[in-house]
Amino acid sequence: MNLLLAGTWDPGEEDAWAQALRAALPNHRFVQRREHAPSIDAAIVANPPPGSLQGLPSLRLIQSLWAGVDRLLGDATLPAGVPIARMVDPAMNAAMAETALWAVLSLQRDFFRYAAQQRERRWQVLPQRRADEWSVLVLGCGQMGRGAARRLVQMGYRVAAWSRSAAAAEAGVAMHHGAGGLAAALPRTDVLVNLLPLTDETRGILGAPLFDALPAGAAIVNLARGAHLVEADLLAALDRGQLSHAVLDVFAQEPLPSSHAFWSHPRITVLPHAAAQTDLRSAARIAADNIEALAAGRPLANLVDRGRGY
Ligand code: NAP
Ligand code: GLV
Repeated sequence: MNLLLAGTWDPGEEDAWAQALRAALPNHRFVQRREHAPSIDAAIVANPPPGSLQGLPSLRLIQSLWAGVDRLLGDATLPAGVPIARMVDPAMNAAMAETALWAVLSLQRDFFRYAAQQRERRWQVLPQRRADEWSVLVLGCGQMGRGAARRLVQMGYRVAAWSRSAAAAEAGVAMHHGAGGLAAALPRTDVLVNLLPLTDETRGILGAPLFDALPAGAAIVNLARGAHLVEADLLAALDRGQLSHAVLDVFAQEPLPSSHAFWSHPRITVLPHAAAQTDLRSAARIAADNIEALAAGRPLANLVDRGRGY
């Protein structure tokens, strides 16, 4: 088969992926510049610029190297009817669970406040809170949310998770779904971790109505997409003490502009979209397995439901 590699890459990234994918798919031909566009069978993509997949009449699979496909689906020129598979990799789920755990633990034990105190050379011991008295709500109970919830249970937190439809039980996790489930869970939440996909239904979900439904002084951790958050509502909720802290990995504009208020806000912790990077070592194999499935006519894995948006 002829395979197109297309993406928006950091320096050196495209060559590294090309090398890993060529090694994993030695019997297929890679086309990096679309010079053989009519005969491309599958595209392996990492947030390709809009229009990258237009005019490929033989295309039978779009395999994303990213877990979230919101930017891909936002490309109005994306060929209709071609299956899209996203990256589902246990290594990535594990990385996300670590980031969620770090954020929740840092909030519970006040480690962000201690870091601020160090910058001020201030020696002050704060009351020590117990994990089993701390309630965490994870929004989204898919690949990432379930892994994070599991890790948080292992650490002794009271954990709840929220999904669109009723989810399979997970030991130690109180499951909620639908609007009623969210309304019931929010008032009992000390820290909310967002791991939802970005869809028309979830855009802006982290806004004033949700913040006001949390107990005063709750914290939020956004590890999913910047457009889930209404930035002005967050700043207002922090100012009036409704929220105590926010840990943000993702932003409406990335990289976060150097003039942005979030960089210097004393109660916002910023990460550069690093909560769970695609791990080339395992992800190249996962993408390759789906390409081999296509070549052999076997069922494809990790398919996106375009109607749902994830
Ligand atoms: P996933 O497996 O598709 O899981 C999505 C979960 O969200 C499911 O539980 C789903 O419920 C739930 N959901 C979707 N729409 C909902 C709604 N309207 N109301 C309530 N629940 C809803 O996705 P994933 O692999 O866990 O990834 C989640 C997101 O993480 C990605 O889309 C991406 O944005 C983000 N991400 C971030 C990074 C990073 O480095 N920051 C890395 C990778 C991924 P159902 O089960 O009922 O459908
Ligand atoms: C990263 O944000 C991803 O979606 O893989």
